[in-house]
Amino acid sequence: MAGILAGKSALVTGGASGIGRATALAMAREGARVAVADRTEESAAATVALINQAGGQAIAIGADVTREAEVAAMVARAVAAFGRIDCAFNNAGVGGASVGPGGQRLHELSQASFDTMQAINLTGVFLCMKHEIVRMLEQGGGSIVNTASVAGLIGLPTSSHYVAAKHGVVGLTKTAAMEYAKDNIRVNCVNPGYVTTPMTEAAVAVRLDAMMAKVPMGRMGEPQEIAEGVVWMLSDRASFMTGASHVIDGGYYAA
Ligand SMILES: NC(=O)c1ccc[n+]([C@@H]2O[C@H](COP(=O)([O-])OP(=O)(O)OC[C@H]3O[C@@H](n4cnc5c(N)ncnc54)[C@H](O)[C@@H]3O)[C@@H](O)[C@H]2O)c1
Repeated sequence: MAGILAGKSALVTGGASGIGRATALAMAREGARVAVADRTEESAAATVALINQAGGQAIAIGADVTREAEVAAMVARAVAAFGRIDCAFNNAGVGGASVGPGGQRLHELSQASFDTMQAINLTGVFLCMKHEIVRMLEQGGGSIVNTASVAGLIGLPTSSHYVAAKHGVVGLTKTAAMEYAKDNIRVNCVNPGYVTTPMTEAAVAVRLDAMMAKVPMGRMGEPQEIAEGVVWMLSDRASFMTGASHVIDGGYYAA
């Protein structure tokens, strides 16, 4: 397929749902062969089926990003299938409701909630970057985008564990960008605002108006609107961009 990722091999984590699925589809539309990873191979396979139906080429991989051995095997499997990893989108993540009761201020959070959040949303990104970069150094370059959040740039009451993890992703991104700039590896992050995915479903059901009051455009984003920016950042069109936090949020961060 022709497109801005023509001839590239790509890997996306959290590819079974939401922003990851939309980005996997956009990568394929732009010409990439896509390794779609998620917690289980079965869940990733549904995205692969959509890519194949549209005439693209993809494989499904099951890997929990908190487990280094599984991350290493994920990268090895993508390389075995496509020969290299030119573009990596480290996007797997969870919201507060997945690790505890939700709505808790810092003094109410359990250590288990805090630790699980860091394990998935921060350590998971570290492990993926680590193994992808080994491969990218061997092959002479590559491009990485990590999913942070507007919460990687500002505070968000009752989400201190999520905010800490996402600020961490911004820091990992900046530092890796500096460390590998001379190795032809670009590292950026995307910072979405509120996007319509399963992660935001419960919050939307109970406090959509309060959420939208913070967004100048006054609406949720769609996963495809994040995917467009990610695909561009991963492509050679963004050749001078590294270490950046790219906000896509309907104006939330500017307000
Ligand atoms: N939806 C939003 O409003 C929003 C805003 C800012 C940032 N984000 C971030 O975007 C990313 C994608 O979220 P989404 O909204 O598409 O949610 P989603 O729930 O639709 O998708 C997240 C995917 O990550 C996978 N995942 C979770 N833990 C994993 C693990 N340990 N190993 C492998 N895969 C795992 C899930 O199975 C799921 O398929 C997350 O990092 C999230 O923090 C989302």
